[in-house]
Amino acid sequence: MKASVQSGNPNRVPHGPSRVEHAPVMLSETIDLLQCRPGGIFVDATIGLAGHAGAILKNIRPDGLLIGLDRDSESLAIARSRLKPDEKNIRLFHANFKNLPLILNNLGLKTLDGILADLGVSAYQLLAADRGFSFQSDALLDMRMDRSQRLTASDLVNGLPEEELADLILRFGEEPRARRIASSIVRARQKGPVTRCAQLADVIARAAGGRASRRTHPATRTFQALRIAVNQELEGLEEFMREALTFLRPGGRLAVIAFHSLEDRIVKRSFRMLAGHCVCGRRPPLCTCPRNPVGRLVRTRAVKPGAAEVAVNPRARSARLRVLERVQAITESEC
Ligand SMILES: C[S@@+](CC[C@H](N)C(=O)[O-])C[C@H]1O[C@@H](n2cnc3c(N)ncnc32)[C@H](O)[C@@H]1O
Repeated sequence: MKASVQSGNPNRVPHGPSRVEHAPVMLSETIDLLQCRPGGIFVDATIGLAGHAGAILKNIRPDGLLIGLDRDSESLAIARSRLKPDEKNIRLFHANFKNLPLILNNLGLKTLDGILADLGVSAYQLLAADRGFSFQSDALLDMRMDRSQRLTASDLVNGLPEEELADLILRFGEEPRARRIASSIVRARQKGPVTRCAQLADVIARAAGGRASRRTHPATRTFQALRIAVNQELEGLEEFMREALTFLRPGGRLAVIAFHSLEDRIVKRSFRMLAGHCVCGRRPPLCTCPRNPVGRLVRTRAVKPGAAEVAVNPRARSARLRVLERVQAITESEC
């Protein structure tokens, strides 16, 4: 567990794309809805390149505190260098957000004002030449957010039996042509391992037969599926949100930004359940959903980026922001 361990050399800013960039999505909406205020204590559970974190810090100065986590030590090093002027107001951890309760307990923090989780990968990770996330790169098929983990995308592509590979592509990519794609990958790897992103993208494009739509490359869904599987992105998400809420003061807010429907469905369902809404769709007495609200949906529908933001950052188009407000006092048993 690396919860309290700072990344290798915490001050080393890695080499990556010539301009290390990631535009924070729905920045003003997120900051407004989190209700950042001077002196506040906030967590950015996926600090990335510190776009949102930098804005949170501006709003909590001079004596607020920001705790930042990322499972990617390279991104964390960039965040650290960007936030350097505010050093006294930040604590950074190379950690999976699943470990947030442990980190907060170690810091002796019981009541926070807000928590942000901006899920998925950053543009920096996608574009980095050596990270192997993108079908547009010729990097080795890697896709690990945390490079200290062993399993890579190449292990899955070259090691899974055909049926498991197809199930994975269907489940995490919602790819209707999953069986055909898996079968082509297995045929390709009989001639030698499929180790590079461009090589896999080519195999998929030939199996899928052209573009999925004018906007999407035929390998998009398969690459998403592999990335989710390598990083076990959906595991523990619901538990993270439930536990995170217990650390908020009444009125404190949890904001989550999701980038694909699998993630957003989990966020939507969890938030509705925590707000005491029915998630099964059946009427009482058949409905057995727990109706003890510990949160309040700040907006009934997800907040989406405006047309102006999507025009300058097309990647933002699929982002969905949901915010839950803590409504009950935190009891001793929850701390
Ligand atoms: C969309 S980016 C966040 C960008 C950030 N909000 C910014 O403005 O720069 C998502 C980040 O979350 C990290 N991440 C994803 N899953 C994580 C997890 N379970 N625990 C910690 N970090 C995670 C990724 O490594 C990535 O840096």
